Amino acid sequence: MTDLTDAARAILRGNDRQGPGGRYTVPNGRVYPFQWNWDSAFVALGFDTFDRVRAWQEVETLFSAQWQDGFVPHIVFWADDAGYFPGPSVWDTGREPRTSGITQPPVAATVVRRLWDTALAAGEGDAFWSRVERLYDQLLAYHRWFAEVRDPEGRGVVVAMHPWETGRDNSPEWDAPGEPIDVSKVGDYVRRDTGHLDAKMRPTKLEYDRYLALVQYGRAQGWDHHAIAAGNPFRVADVGMSMILLRANRDLRDLGAMLGRDTGAIAAWIARAEAGIGWLWDEAHGCWCSRDLLTGRRSGFVTSASFLSFYAGLRDPAKDAATLAHLARIGARVPYLMPSLDPADPGFQMIRYWRGPVWAVVNWMIGTGLAETGHAEPAARVKRDTLDLIARNGFYEAFSPVDGTGSGGDDFSWTAAIWLAWVAGDRSAV
Ligand code: DGY
Repeated sequence: MTDLTDAARAILRGNDRQGPGGRYTVPNGRVYPFQWNWDSAFVALGFDTFDRVRAWQEVETLFSAQWQDGFVPHIVFWADDAGYFPGPSVWDTGREPRTSGITQPPVAATVVRRLWDTALAAGEGDAFWSRVERLYDQLLAYHRWFAEVRDPEGRGVVVAMHPWETGRDNSPEWDAPGEPIDVSKVGDYVRRDTGHLDAKMRPTKLEYDRYLALVQYGRAQGWDHHAIAAGNPFRVADVGMSMILLRANRDLRDLGAMLGRDTGAIAAWIARAEAGIGWLWDEAHGCWCSRDLLTGRRSGFVTSASFLSFYAGLRDPAKDAATLAHLARIGARVPYLMPSLDPADPGFQMIRYWRGPVWAVVNWMIGTGLAETGHAEPAARVKRDTLDLIARNGFYEAFSPVDGTGSGGDDFSWTAAIWLAWVAGDRSAV
């Protein structure tokens, strides 16, 4: 355990970079050589176990790239690197620092709340007070942006405008909603991901064409997010982002209360989500899943995001029982929870990105939520499987739920961070 903890710390140190906005961590120097939004949030959880100041810097650097309207991009291009495509000139957002034009699952408020709790527990509240105040304001603006721009029908959900926004890039949840995207004018391009990694672990050419067509659409709107929300060919209420934002709003409200702020707006967003999120329940399949805003169609897929309802703080005995039954069924079928796609699905592929592999960060959210809601046994299983996968195979980007094979990049920052959060931090109730 100690060796692995040392190794995890060394990975974070090795992926640490100094940019013009401050220190940040690359997810993996070869495959992902910039700062990514939700990667950095999870990375901060890892740093928090051994270098508190560095943990705060990670989130502060990310938020230094926040746009005027509260939006926080999914990538900040702090340095040039030709090893990644699509780079800043393809996004062409015209911002300084250079950023992408889409966001990512908003885990940051949950993380900052944890950083603040650690600081308080260490008797360092005074040292971090002005930092938490500043981040609170930035997080509030970010969540307001979600409420005003990414929930156009006021349903209490998050509508993703790009599969990359969901973080679950090639989940089969995006297959049907992606069909209307016109890829005929995308033109030629050279992917860099498949130069670093086996193409069998990555999205297909058709999926990449769709990703780029959506980037081109956003660019044609001048990255006006209201215009994109009104006309984008891909508009999907993502169950993962919706659950994560609901949880993040609860943490932000608590943080605001601790800081003596008026949290009325946050309470209203939470109430709207609690009232509306049932729209993402699929009674026919007994699961939480995403829903195409344009057609109203539910995906019907059981994915790892289906198990984030506990993390979101939702309590519904019938839905919880159905969700736990899926967990037990999948847990009996594969040695390692939680596959990103139900292994009983014909489209399950054990090493292809979000069509099968286990992701440590999703497991952390699932395990944390299960533990908090009193489901100790499945919570312990999810945590144990995550740590086993890492201990046996290394700090890979993701892992096969069938045999544990590492997939994607190695020495991966957020996998190292989750190891640290669960082993060295040991503040989770699991
Ligand atoms: C990629 O390039 O694969 C990333 O997931 C996009 O954010």
